[in-house]
Amino acid sequence: MYHPAYWVVFSATTALLFIPCTIDDRVTRVAWLNRSTILYAGNDKWSIDPRVIILVNTPTQYSIMIQNVDVYDEGPYTCSVQTDNHPKTSRVHLIVQVPPQIMNISSDITVNEGSSVTLLCLAIGRPEPTVTWRHLSVKEGQGFVSEDEYLEISDIKRDQSGEYECSALNDVAAPDVRKVKITVNYPPYISKAKNTGVSVGQKGILSCEASAVPMAEFQWFKEDTRLATGLDGVRIENKGRMSTLTFFNVSEKDYGNYTCVATNKLGNTNASITLYGPGAVIDGVNSASRALACLWLSGTLLAHFFIKF
Ligand SMILES: *[C@@H]1O[C@H](CO)[C@@H](O)[C@H](O)[C@H]1NC(C)=O
Ligand SMILES: *[C@@H]1O[C@H](CO)[C@@H](O)[C@H](O)[C@H]1NC(C)=O
Ligand SMILES: *[C@@H]1O[C@H](CO)[C@@H](O)[C@H](O)[C@H]1NC(C)=O
Ligand SMILES: *[C@@H]1O[C@H](CO)[C@@H](O)[C@H](O)[C@H]1NC(C)=O
Ligand SMILES: *[C@@H]1O[C@H](CO)[C@@H](O)[C@H](O)[C@H]1NC(C)=O
Repeated sequence: MYHPAYWVVFSATTALLFIPCTIDDRVTRVAWLNRSTILYAGNDKWSIDPRVIILVNTPTQYSIMIQNVDVYDEGPYTCSVQTDNHPKTSRVHLIVQVPPQIMNISSDITVNEGSSVTLLCLAIGRPEPTVTWRHLSVKEGQGFVSEDEYLEISDIKRDQSGEYECSALNDVAAPDVRKVKITVNYPPYISKAKNTGVSVGQKGILSCEASAVPMAEFQWFKEDTRLATGLDGVRIENKGRMSTLTFFNVSEKDYGNYTCVATNKLGNTNASITLYGPGAVIDGVNSASRALACLWLSGTLLAHFFIKF
């Protein structure tokens, strides 16, 4: 006739809770209790909480309703009845579940390579959600970087930049997921600088590619002279990672070495690029060994010089 003790699992997303209690016409007195506090005795409300109301009070049912259920409502509720002067109780244990929700998460951040970064992701929920961090810019399955609210990266590298996803998970509802972007600044390095051969009277293009964050700015030099668009029939164009130096009509005097300098706020680097004519022999290894031979030669000459005097 009376319910045995049982559990109601209730998700706070629904917010309205109906707790039934089945009785019969031999019952003389009825009451609902929250822990040991009387909520209702018959039709008389003892609780001052406006969220609690008696929903059904008939000879077969005595049921209450709780509106806007929150986590503090968790605990034992008792339907207490008296039949032929015998008290009986039916207990309901209320468990309140709350879907995971991320309450506080770090903002997008820009740091220099080598610094330390800590990201934070605070989530609530019932049961307590599991919080994990994943690096989205890496291959599937390799992205778990932290199984914790804190993601700590010391000595951060450029390939650790990108989006990081925080996910808060419990059994109640779909995980709550948010993203944070880490930008890692690093000084430029020149990834492509190719020597170019062009005949006199033709159009020649030297190009220089640099990787950097923030994006590099470029300058071109011939010896110590900085080149600029419009001077000596050249044009400089910068497009993203690439800078080009265009000669509209190559003449003999244009042949030689040019320096491409890539700069951002963390530093600069440069590369030497040669514009050469037909028949020229451009060989990095040969020219380097030739330079060494020159050094050696001048060294021996100097030695002779000192021996003599
Ligand atoms: C039940 O009792 C707890 C503890 O006193 C209280 O915080 C909560 O608001 C009560 N809930 C209802 C629905 O009466
Ligand atoms: C989020 O966490 C940070 C660091 O603990 C704190 O300074 C900030 O006040 C928090 N913000 C909110 C909305 O809780
Ligand atoms: C290139 O320069 C040479 C010498 O200055 C000139 O004779 C020739 O007409 C030029 N060619 C073009 C396409 O401008
Ligand atoms: C190119 O780099 C070298 C070595 O880093 C430096 O000594 C030189 O001054 C640089 N040249 C220019 C034009 O910036
Ligand atoms: C141009 O650069 C190459 C190698 O970088 C060097 O061997 C050569 O001497 C340079 N030529 C001139 C004219 O500076």
